[in-house]
Amino acid sequence: MRFHKNPKNWFVKSGQPLTEMDKKILYWQSKGCLVPERKLIKTPEQIEGIRKAGKLNTAVLDLVAEKIREGMSTLEIDQLVYDFTTKNGGIPAPLNYEGFPKSCCTSLNEVVCHGIPCEEEVLEEGDIINVDCTTILDGYYADASRMFIIGETSPECEKLVRVAKECLEIGAEACKPYTFVGDSAAAITKHAHKNGYTVVRDLCGHGVGCEFHEDPEMFHHGKKGEGMLLVPGMVFTIEPMINMGTYEVFVDSEDDWTVVTEDEMPSAQWEHTFLMTEEGLEILTY
Ligand code: MF3
Ligand code: CO
Ligand code: CO
Repeated sequence: MRFHKNPKNWFVKSGQPLTEMDKKILYWQSKGCLVPERKLIKTPEQIEGIRKAGKLNTAVLDLVAEKIREGMSTLEIDQLVYDFTTKNGGIPAPLNYEGFPKSCCTSLNEVVCHGIPCEEEVLEEGDIINVDCTTILDGYYADASRMFIIGETSPECEKLVRVAKECLEIGAEACKPYTFVGDSAAAITKHAHKNGYTVVRDLCGHGVGCEFHEDPEMFHHGKKGEGMLLVPGMVFTIEPMINMGTYEVFVDSEDDWTVVTEDEMPSAQWEHTFLMTEEGLEILTY
């Protein structure tokens, strides 16, 4: 994930009158704000493609929800994801992405994200696990993740899972057209802190749709007005990682992927891919 990029200019299409959107973007640009490049605003055709990818991705997660149980290995989850996705004409985006070896991420308890499915990791009663799937269909990407509780867990972990979901919902609700990424981040941060939790800062959501990870950086910890202006036609994820203890994380040096909480306390995350419309966000991964 990247931070502190130089703002790109908004280019007005030559010879055409300014649209209402052009005027608003140019206004914020003149104030020195980070505004989207034109390519981040999806065409109706691209939106249709991402919508279809979203439907398949949701079906994959629904299958995981139906099958996941105590005694199952995270490798078995990965096989379900691979088989179902490919049988339905899709490609699991994580597979071979920057060297990632599997078709989904499975992040157990103190693992924040990017956990690698493996045969030795067997689900036990009381575990909380995030399964993160991204599907490519006809060249378009959709990305979502859910938490699953194996059997019964502690009241503390149950609350963490619930509040992490609320953080996603509250962050999405705060995203209106012509607000900033930071407006959503501030709402997420407030809800997490109110519940005694912290928000991971080193990883963020992202634009998605034509590639796996696009601009903008959808950070989840921050203040109103920070980050990029969000305008209709943009497609991005919100995926707050909420920790029971410290917000600090480290990457496991053995695999260079698995992100773990510094204090090894539990972490929870939910993710959806959203389309910004004139009215607010539409979920593309339902
Ligand atoms: N799906 C993750 C996200 O939400 C990215 C996983 S990258 C992988 O952005 F290579 F680990 F799969
Ligand atoms: Co994801
Ligand atoms: Co994502």
